Amino acid sequence: MTAKRKRTTLFAGALVALSLAATACGSSGGSSDAGKSNKLEVFSWWTSGSESDALKVLQTKFQSDSGQQFINAAVSGGGGSNAQQALQTRLQGGNPPDSWQLHPDKDLASVVKDGLVADVSSMYEKNGWADKMPKTIVEMVQNDGKFYAVPVNAHRANVLWTNPKILKANGINWTNSTTAEQFMSDAQKLSSAGVTPICLGDKDVFASTQLLETLIIGRVGADGWNGLFNGGAKFDSPEVKQAVSDYVQLLGMTNKDHSALTWDQAAINVAKGQCASNLMGDWAYGELKSKGYKENTGFGYVTMPGTSDVFDFVGDAFVKPAKDGPNPQGEDTWLTTLMDPRVQADFNLVKGSTPVRTDVPLDKFPPYQKQAATDFRSKTIVSSLAHREVAPAEFAQAYADAVTALNGDKNVGTFLRTMADAQSNLLG
Ligand code: GAL
Repeated sequence: MTAKRKRTTLFAGALVALSLAATACGSSGGSSDAGKSNKLEVFSWWTSGSESDALKVLQTKFQSDSGQQFINAAVSGGGGSNAQQALQTRLQGGNPPDSWQLHPDKDLASVVKDGLVADVSSMYEKNGWADKMPKTIVEMVQNDGKFYAVPVNAHRANVLWTNPKILKANGINWTNSTTAEQFMSDAQKLSSAGVTPICLGDKDVFASTQLLETLIIGRVGADGWNGLFNGGAKFDSPEVKQAVSDYVQLLGMTNKDHSALTWDQAAINVAKGQCASNLMGDWAYGELKSKGYKENTGFGYVTMPGTSDVFDFVGDAFVKPAKDGPNPQGEDTWLTTLMDPRVQADFNLVKGSTPVRTDVPLDKFPPYQKQAATDFRSKTIVSSLAHREVAPAEFAQAYADAVTALNGDKNVGTFLRTMADAQSNLLG
């Protein structure tokens, strides 16, 4: 018999909502087995309007498939800014949730290395999941040939959300062919005309680390980006220096209250006409739609200038704990729910992301998401640093700290030196 895990939410800021189990027929939650639980506690950082709505889609399907109770242990804070710490506390205390959100690639690799998550290869074999996803993603949910996580979506990080009226009124026409140079010169033009060219909401640091990440990709391309993490390129190169200088220049032109705003507030401010654009992953699409803004009229979008050939991937996946919890059947039902093609369609429609399954029909998807899904299936996929995917957590943290310092001192040279040192440590 496995040890019972405490179910008290010890961490501050946790939003815990209990949902009564549907008294569905065919319940198979194992509630009659002594010592077994028929509750499933799922940990994530999905608490904005669209994020909670999307999570509800998963919850509803899980409840109807299992007849079990769903405990929403989401911790607020964009990009998992507070959730990471809360989760670490629980994992270190031997009190893991039944399932938790993480990113594929290195974020997953670190919990695999620490022996915290279960091998779910048999579920992949049984359901043939690996054949339904792009090869790049299959590799990112594997470690030494075994599968450890089930992905539910593919977000694109390199999207610039725009205000069509403001751009038109200022004679600016950004397209997917717009270069990074043109974008910077247009930003300057807007600023001189008294318009904030780019809104930022970096109360949670990922918004600024992600902005800089996409500026760097715009200057070095997919190979150059990957090179920063495998030794093929250097942080203290002229191209990265240019991107960091552009970033500092944009900071000088952004909204003064940026460090007080969350990512979703900044995205909505574009639609409200407070600025011309906002760089944010396409979770912003879900949020804009949930607030009633219509694409093309209420807001527009282009890939971040210079990055149209790249899909800067931020994936959401779920894992189950290495040691059997009190509800193994619930855990498996939950993970299976995530890969259900209908669920992937319904969830991603609300979340703003792309189904990670490439066999999900796209006819119900609106134009932005159709385009993103097509790009996901055809462009070069790179993995995000801002979201702890492309490099281990310590390196992602070193980058976040360097960006925070840069936001304060605006010192490009110091930033480049710090990152060059971090890169040497990473590559050994
Ligand atoms: C990302 C996550 C997205 C979205 C975003 C903002 O890390 O992959 O699903 O939730 O944070 O919170």
